[in-house]
Amino acid sequence: MNCTDTHVVSSSSGHCANDAAAEAVSAADAEDGNGQRSRSVPVAAAKPNSGLKPCPLRAPLVVTTVGLPCRGKSLASHKVARHLSWRGESAKVFNVESNATADTLHEISAFFKEGNNVAIIDGMHLTRSSRQLLINFCAEQLFHHLLIEFSCNDQCLRENIDDTVKFYHQLDQNIDWERRIKENNERLTPRFEPCSPLEGPMITVNNSEDPMFHSVTARGVRGSIQTNILGVLASPVIRQQTFYFSRHGESEFNVLGRIGGDADLSPRGMKYAERLARQLGGPGSAPDCPKPKLIWTSELRRTIRTVQNIPGPRAAIKDLNEINAGICEGLTYEEIQERFPQEFAWRDQDKFKYRYPHGESYLDLLQRVDSVVQALLANTDVLVVSHQAVLRCIMAYFKGTKPDDVPYINVPLHTLLIVRSYGYDFKVETVPLKVECVDTYRIQPKNCSTSRTTADALTTVPAHFDTPLSQQMPTTIS
Ligand code: F6P
Repeated sequence: MNCTDTHVVSSSSGHCANDAAAEAVSAADAEDGNGQRSRSVPVAAAKPNSGLKPCPLRAPLVVTTVGLPCRGKSLASHKVARHLSWRGESAKVFNVESNATADTLHEISAFFKEGNNVAIIDGMHLTRSSRQLLINFCAEQLFHHLLIEFSCNDQCLRENIDDTVKFYHQLDQNIDWERRIKENNERLTPRFEPCSPLEGPMITVNNSEDPMFHSVTARGVRGSIQTNILGVLASPVIRQQTFYFSRHGESEFNVLGRIGGDADLSPRGMKYAERLARQLGGPGSAPDCPKPKLIWTSELRRTIRTVQNIPGPRAAIKDLNEINAGICEGLTYEEIQERFPQEFAWRDQDKFKYRYPHGESYLDLLQRVDSVVQALLANTDVLVVSHQAVLRCIMAYFKGTKPDDVPYINVPLHTLLIVRSYGYDFKVETVPLKVECVDTYRIQPKNCSTSRTTADALTTVPAHFDTPLSQQMPTTIS
């Protein structure tokens, strides 16, 4: 590979470094955005033919953000980390004042040693030398490195500054934060050296809330993680978002404890549909109640019926259909135990990865709903009415749930979940609408062995309508 520039260059086949450049921009020379020298870092300069090996495909990834203040770096960093962690990677944001320091690099090394794989350094890294430090570090340690440079259009910058001023104003009201931020920007702007393509793989993001003006370009991006990051950055970050989630009203299958299928609502399920409509702008609702701008359901009857009285544009989306239980579709948990006891036990052993024969796993579902979550995040005021397993996967994104815990998230029937964004965080409000219904939540039994007794396998199966009264547990809501 040809290294013609005075910077370390990363190629698709590995690393390529230029002696002069690497030494000229040694770690000790690194300057932060405030014009201060950062501490010397124990990083050997990457040299050509110095025996550096190509980075293994699954090597950890360091992502370095670049950009002046208020360009959307932190929001995007956390959005990327949330998404990657949701999809089973182990990502963390390392917030730094201006530039990564020796301590940051030590922390990142320790983080990777613990088995984690994506470190996002959220800082300005305005100068080439401050970035070179990280490029050298990654070359030396055999980590992948990706730069993400952020800029904003004028409107977006104004809004970002307003948000930042509001945030700091809550902390200290005696400071003119707006002036301080503007002065800081003016001071730092002349020092900013935009990323050059020769600095290695990079994504540039020009932030705008308007999708027509939000733009992203990529160079040298490779592998599934970097491609996922690119996908996450491709849609604008919407500042304030509210989403409404609900399972369909109780179905005729729920009442009988049967899974899957395309049953209609039970009478109690229809009552819930009315109650939900009253909550969200339908007949009988208060004038100031929230009104969803978009209504998304699965293609199944029970979700479409649940939103029938809620006003607003709607779409039935296949990706919101319930988990496909394959050979177990339409059975009760008791019947699954009777016909396929081994499958039932295997599912209890690893519910996240277990795939029903001819059906799906939670892992498959996460993949399936990824595009729905991406589409949601590009909107606000969306009502999603779907199913237990699918909503578990979607709520896991907002709650930051680890993959193995996803199949056990409690998403009860007849309950509205309202998710609101707060900066890069989300809060979930649970609103039970007080219409009686069965409980469909089955916790993991203690005994998950394939040789367990039927009684052990069925201990945590929730009661349903045809369960003998002596075995019934109370319904969830009355
Ligand atoms: O019981 C209702 C239901 O939506 C079924 O259709 C589906 O198979 C099940 O929930 C998913 O929940 P779990 O993964 O806990 O079996």
